[in-house]
Amino acid sequence: MGRRIGVLNYKGGTAKTTTVVNLGAGLALRGARVLCVDLDPQGSLATCLGVRYTYSLAHLLLGQVDARSCIVRARENLDIIAGDSSLLHAEGELWRLGDSGLARQILAQRMQGLDNLYRYVIVDFSPSASILSESGLHYVRELIVPVSTNYLGLIGVRQVIGTLRNLSQVPGHRVHLYLIVPTIYSRQVRQDREVLGLLQHHFAGRVTHPIRASVKLLEAPSHHKTIYEYSPRSSAADDYHRLVERVMRDG
Ligand SMILES: Nc1ncnc2c1ncn2[C@@H]1O[C@H](COP(=O)(O)OP(=O)(O)OP(=O)(O)O)[C@@H](O)[C@H]1O
Ligand SMILES: [Mg+2]
Repeated sequence: MGRRIGVLNYKGGTAKTTTVVNLGAGLALRGARVLCVDLDPQGSLATCLGVRYTYSLAHLLLGQVDARSCIVRARENLDIIAGDSSLLHAEGELWRLGDSGLARQILAQRMQGLDNLYRYVIVDFSPSASILSESGLHYVRELIVPVSTNYLGLIGVRQVIGTLRNLSQVPGHRVHLYLIVPTIYSRQVRQDREVLGLLQHHFAGRVTHPIRASVKLLEAPSHHKTIYEYSPRSSAADDYHRLVERVMRDG
């Protein structure tokens, strides 16, 4: 069975989507079958990869189509299920169910069987703690938390730790904090070095090498390219390769 990895931080702009795209694409380049799922109504995943689709995750959650109808091929070995603003409507419908237990399980239910087809299923979370995010947390087993290396980034990590504590009290729930990825890191900036040091102090082996700040990562999405396509020799490509290798080493 494949690994189900969520990329989550309730603070916005910490490089969640950038990490989903370049971790997913990097694993796919090494021959692993990968499915990336966009749980964010901002819908950036399909845009970043330049993918057109007919049915989004919202159609799947509302039971209008089956999972296979939503899956779109983005690259060799890399499939996605796109998110978009219709997820807001889906979320409203989930609330109307009036059964929060059922709503939380909806993603796991709709995705049933898919992790037999993929080595990795990677879920891109939105930066808010919504019922959709909760359904994502019930589906995934491991969390990767990208933290931009500034003070507000640390607040994001504290929120995630709080969420994980709550989840550990739900019987039968099995998600755990897998990796913390320091992102948008500039070694020249003292605060960035301090935040990196703090993360390493508190989370030791869970903290990966930082992803350095790179204008190439900023530019790649507007060209609908992964970092390996847009700038394969950049520091950012090296950094994401290193993350990919770490994830592969772990299974
Ligand atoms: N290492 C980096 N260096 C420079 N810019 C980066 C880096 N990583 C991400 N970015 C840029 O930072 C911005 C935010 O990244 P991204 O959209 O991946 O964050 P996010 O956590 O998914 O945001 P949201 O919370 O809105 O979903 C984007 O413009 C992205 O291109
Ligand atoms: Mg995002």
